[in-house]
Amino acid sequence: MLKVKDEHVLANVDYASYQPKVSKINEMIEKNEGAGNDFTGWVKYPETFDKVEFENIKKYAKVVRDNYEVLVVCGIGGSYLGARAALEALQGLKRNDKLEIIFLGQTFSSDYIFDVLSYLENKNFAINVISKSGTTTETAIAFRLVKELLERKVGKVKAQKAIFATTDPKKGALRELSTNEGYVTFNLPGNIGGRYSVFTAVGLFPLACAGVNIDELMKGALDAEKACKNPLINKNPAYKYAVLRDYFYNHKKGVEMFVSYEPKLTQLGEWFKQLFGESEGKDGKGLLPDSATFSTDLHSLGQYVQDGTKQLFETILYVKHPNNRVVIPHDDANLDGLNYLENKDLEFVNEKAFLGTLEAHTKTGNVPNIIIEVEKMDEYNLGYLFYFFMKTCAMSAYLLKVNPFNQPGVEVYKKNMFHLLGKKGY
Ligand code: PA5
Repeated sequence: MLKVKDEHVLANVDYASYQPKVSKINEMIEKNEGAGNDFTGWVKYPETFDKVEFENIKKYAKVVRDNYEVLVVCGIGGSYLGARAALEALQGLKRNDKLEIIFLGQTFSSDYIFDVLSYLENKNFAINVISKSGTTTETAIAFRLVKELLERKVGKVKAQKAIFATTDPKKGALRELSTNEGYVTFNLPGNIGGRYSVFTAVGLFPLACAGVNIDELMKGALDAEKACKNPLINKNPAYKYAVLRDYFYNHKKGVEMFVSYEPKLTQLGEWFKQLFGESEGKDGKGLLPDSATFSTDLHSLGQYVQDGTKQLFETILYVKHPNNRVVIPHDDANLDGLNYLENKDLEFVNEKAFLGTLEAHTKTGNVPNIIIEVEKMDEYNLGYLFYFFMKTCAMSAYLLKVNPFNQPGVEVYKKNMFHLLGKKGY
């Protein structure tokens, strides 16, 4: 559950004037008649998802947890960011579990890949390779390397049992390889694109392996699905947020800065940037999604937000209650002058930092702030949030009159790179 608060947006947004447009787009989404409608499988997915596969995900996650020390998750973009964001949001930055999760396949960096492969030399590891197309170069190179290491360490037969592939149900290079090698496979349904896939096995299998309660995640998603199909802007948090975004886009704000006060939500900012950036940034249009983690970045970007070019608005994801308490102790010498805070929770300090910054950025800096308020960060609330952002994104892109589900621009660098690499046909 969440609230979208507009008390600090420094504008009188005329929601009523947006209602006819929003109702029309909502109907278009419901009837699946919008641009890119062959990629809208995610809209009703929290109710329609394959329950048999869901149980299989849990079954094989237990196999991984019971038999391996490390799971290497190999994917990029939509086949990577959701699982990583969720893992950090739910289990923090210092996770200490019997199964370690390492992400690979999201870079060509020889130093990073070398480090991971060297680390894995002495580890008992499994692999979850995730690619809808099966031909994404970053993922394919990393998978080839890590698969070769695994086969060398344990032999081909044991390696085949330790490789789990998530890919298109019918087609693609990874599907073909998995069939040939007999890997356990999970589906990324044909009608769901990468950045909308976190509720499929793309996100769920690594998360279940990490011990995340995926039932609760899906419950949150289902409740968000119900709340976010209401056509009325004042009853639908996703549409209210989409209208605010559109309003700022049309009032000379070209940049949306997604802000949280939790370092464990930094990767959620990365997921956010991909979702909105790839969905809206086309045809010469779209807000630039940026992200920051406060108060850390108040000591870097904070200056720009306060005093720099007036081109941005902030969207604050504020989690009201942390999962853990830390109390500031008394110190006899008090040389740091902090005894006025003794016995206070860090939650109290973080909240005051948020409130002080809100006032500074809005009242002094004249930077509009949208606040998305969540009670706490757990599986249910995260599932709710993921779905809420995806529905916001679809509505926002349709308000902009762009297709939310394609990414034609991404192909340009690939073509140039393939040409320079000497790939046949480029
Ligand atoms: O959102 C998207 O569609 C992309 O980010 C893809 O997920 C990403 O390019 C990876 O593609 P694939 O799963 O085919 O390897």
